Amino acid sequence: METSRENEIKEFVRTRYSELARRGCSCSESAPSCCSDSKEAYAKVIGYKDDDLKGLPDSVLNTLAGCGNPTAHADLGRGETVLDLGSGGGIDAFLAARKVGATGRVIGVDMTKDMVALANRNKRKLNVKNVEFRLGEIEDLPVQDDSVDIVISNCVINLSPDKDRVFREAFRVLKPGGRLLVSDIVTTEKLPREIRRDMEMWAGCVAGALEEGTYLQKVIDAGFKDVQVMSKRDFKGVASSLRLRAFKPWN
Ligand SMILES: C[S@@+](CC[C@H](N)C(=O)[O-])C[C@H]1O[C@@H](n2cnc3c(N)ncnc32)[C@H](O)[C@@H]1O
Repeated sequence: METSRENEIKEFVRTRYSELARRGCSCSESAPSCCSDSKEAYAKVIGYKDDDLKGLPDSVLNTLAGCGNPTAHADLGRGETVLDLGSGGGIDAFLAARKVGATGRVIGVDMTKDMVALANRNKRKLNVKNVEFRLGEIEDLPVQDDSVDIVISNCVINLSPDKDRVFREAFRVLKPGGRLLVSDIVTTEKLPREIRRDMEMWAGCVAGALEEGTYLQKVIDAGFKDVQVMSKRDFKGVASSLRLRAFKPWN
């Protein structure tokens, strides 16, 4: 059962990302990645390579709102099933789809109807068959238990008001031995109350960010093992974007 504060946060976030999906990118607190001169330049700063970006339509790059490139070092194999939490316009789902090939599949889940509609339009433009976008919340995933090989996510979990539930859900849907590969925002210290209460800063991936140690402990508490921070980079001067990997144990 969500509290009214949690509901308020989710509705605000949904409204902001709905606007981004409908209008495309314009520089604001809620869409920090739009504030760079060129979307492609921003994409490269956060870790995408020329090869990743080749062939993607403008409508994918225009709504890119991530802070990393979670599939870059995910070692995705042919035939694997990938789940993308908060798939947005679909960039990471499409990159994962290339890597898992025709025998694999990718499921993107996003709570914003306009984002799912945009991702589906992008899917038609790219003519990819092995990706499916589902409307849903990452705190209550519309995905079966023990059914995916890898869960990825790019700058989304910080937006959730209930991160414990998100990690428990990721753990539930992963097959034993499955892996979690997340790019997300963390802070070096607890943010001041006025920032944490600022909805624009929440939608802009700052106010909901936790201290790194607290974040990692939630991953461990959900049952994951071998939790490892693979890289870290400064984000807007107040926080870091990190890439982490963790595993669901075999038993
Ligand atoms: C910062 S954007 C990142 C989108 C995408 N991963 C990317 O890298 O471009 C956050 C996305 O997560 C979605 N989102 C935020 N909170 C969510 C939640 N609790 N459940 C499902 N989707 C959520 C938003 O609708 C939005 O599309």
